Amino acid sequence: SLVSSKDILLKAQREGYAVGAFNAENMEMVQAIVSAAEESSSPVIIQTTPGSLQYADTDLFFGMVNAVAGKAKVPVALHLDHGNSAELCAKALRSGYTSIMIDGSKLPFAENVELTKKVVEFTHAMGVPVEGELGTVGGKEDTHEVKDSEKAYTDPQEAKAFAEQTGVDFLAVGIGNAHGFYQGVPKLRFDILEKTKGLVSIPIVLHGASGIPDEDVKKSTGLGICKVNFATELRDAFTKGVKAFIAENPDAFDPKKYNGAGRAKVKELVMHKMQVLNSVNKA
Ligand code: 13P
Ligand code: ZN
Ligand code: NA
Repeated sequence: SLVSSKDILLKAQREGYAVGAFNAENMEMVQAIVSAAEESSSPVIIQTTPGSLQYADTDLFFGMVNAVAGKAKVPVALHLDHGNSAELCAKALRSGYTSIMIDGSKLPFAENVELTKKVVEFTHAMGVPVEGELGTVGGKEDTHEVKDSEKAYTDPQEAKAFAEQTGVDFLAVGIGNAHGFYQGVPKLRFDILEKTKGLVSIPIVLHGASGIPDEDVKKSTGLGICKVNFATELRDAFTKGVKAFIAENPDAFDPKKYNGAGRAKVKELVMHKMQVLNSVNKA
């Protein structure tokens, strides 16, 4: 069923595991993510970026996720990922999204607080939780790019102030994580995460999890991370599935065939991530 991400994440925080937030680009990925959750008896969050919402809007994604989640036994939340304006946040809410992120991480602290607070006000009025971000996640997420020189680690004291002043329900941090695949092995600052966990009581979110080794993802879940975002690895799995099918069947012209192959690859990947996050059998 379609539920609030707050129910999902507070339970994860209490019971000591994390929940995957998987970015969907199309119907097949929505189906793959929910079907992996059903087979794993795991709660799950599906999310869409502003870029994906230019390809298909919030009403269309809500329609697909609502239809699939409505038939599922496991809890499913639909989250706006990296909301880049109060307008887009409001649009997602009107469509029925059950979770909203406003990303003001590129703004100076006071302006980030101001924007986030405004979104928290109207989103909480609808009974929907909000994720904010402090410190920056490196790399590129569709139109949102953070260059290495602009990359800033989250300051734990600032994180505490940000959570208190904005009233956000979840906090995304920058601890050396980056969107997309990494060049080499990422060095996550677990020390910063640990300090932040000591000062902030809300669930913490790890962005940019594609390319982070399983052991490091696991380690972060023991240090306050309750939501882990995966996008690039899903896109990659889908595309590899499609390409492999077409390579083996060069005359294929039925989208159900090659998209179905992509869907199967995404489901396999998501089931693996659920094992890593220890969310299996927690639905
Ligand atoms: P990756 O593409 O690195 O998995 O990052 C996903 C993400 O943070 C979505 O918000
Ligand atoms: Zn992200
Ligand atoms: Na990444």
